[in-house]
Amino acid sequence: MNSYRITTLNDFIIQKQKDFSYASGDLSSLLSHIGTAAKIVNKKMNKAGLVDILGKSGSVNIQGETQQKLDVFADKAFTEALRACGECCGIATEENQNEIVFTGRLEKKGKYIVCMDPLDGSSNIDYNVSVGSIFSIYRRISPRGKTAKIEDFMQPGINQVAAGYVIYGSSTMMVYSTGNGVNGFTLDPSIGEFCLSHPNIKTPVNGNIYSINEGNYTYFPLGIKKFLKFCQEKDEDNERPYTSRYIGSLVSDFHRNLLIGGIFLYPQNERAPQGKLRVVYECNPMAFLAEQAGGAASDGFNRIMEMELKALHQRSPFYVGSLNMVQKVKEFLKAYPD
Ligand code: AHG
Ligand code: MN
Ligand code: MN
Repeated sequence: MNSYRITTLNDFIIQKQKDFSYASGDLSSLLSHIGTAAKIVNKKMNKAGLVDILGKSGSVNIQGETQQKLDVFADKAFTEALRACGECCGIATEENQNEIVFTGRLEKKGKYIVCMDPLDGSSNIDYNVSVGSIFSIYRRISPRGKTAKIEDFMQPGINQVAAGYVIYGSSTMMVYSTGNGVNGFTLDPSIGEFCLSHPNIKTPVNGNIYSINEGNYTYFPLGIKKFLKFCQEKDEDNERPYTSRYIGSLVSDFHRNLLIGGIFLYPQNERAPQGKLRVVYECNPMAFLAEQAGGAASDGFNRIMEMELKALHQRSPFYVGSLNMVQKVKEFLKAYPD
């Protein structure tokens, strides 16, 4: 990258503002606030191991999962950044049972709601494994000027106006889409700015990586067991066996597969009969990004983004990544019903 010709996240957001259907600048401002909150979370994350922010917070979230201190920190950082920006009238996150509606006069006028997994892969934090933050943005359905309603947060994924993630990895990146392709920005710590590093990301139609927690093999649907055997078999064209890669952080596994091609699978299993991943703030935003990059996302039978929501923390089996690999999983599930 020529360091004299950098495009910062904020430059890019402003340049692209004209691409939004309602280009009033509100969404630009919202995205820019998410970028700022991500920098705050990143800063804290970098101190992990030096100050007392690792480990469990002592509390349990709505889903019965032990919250890490950094889960709580990231949740607060994003919630407060979005409250302060004025364009957002409410937020739903993994860490809160119900949606949080902003009641201030300015925020109630906000056009957008945001759904977030403030810290994804948080069980990996203590071991210096890459984690992330995932966001999904919708235009509200309820009238502006009133407090947001639950219907605003329960829209199908196809209504997303933007989605993205931040990955806190060997470098920190923000990857997002407003429905006109996917772009990635790398944080340059020397200037404290996200700089455009991965313009117009397209994911390979055929990948050769499969990512799944194979420890749950015994519980998988028959179609998935057969698909895994297919991935591991040698074929005449020497394309298989595929490579297995699983970090256990959705953002990290998704990010790698997005760039080099592959599929991420999280089927239902006996311990998680509906699957593990949550539709609103994990599956839908990743599905939006995958499709924008030329990939696909399915629950095994139907498009994730068309799923009807019955609960805020609803879970779903999740298959996302290279178009032909997701298609193959669907074929196996159809051919081998349980
Ligand atoms: P979170 O940390 O937000 O609860 O999400 C954890 C998720 C996801 O990041 C990852 O893909 C998955 O859990 C891993 O689950 P297993 O440990 O069951 O493989
Ligand atoms: Mn998560
Ligand atoms: Mn999380």
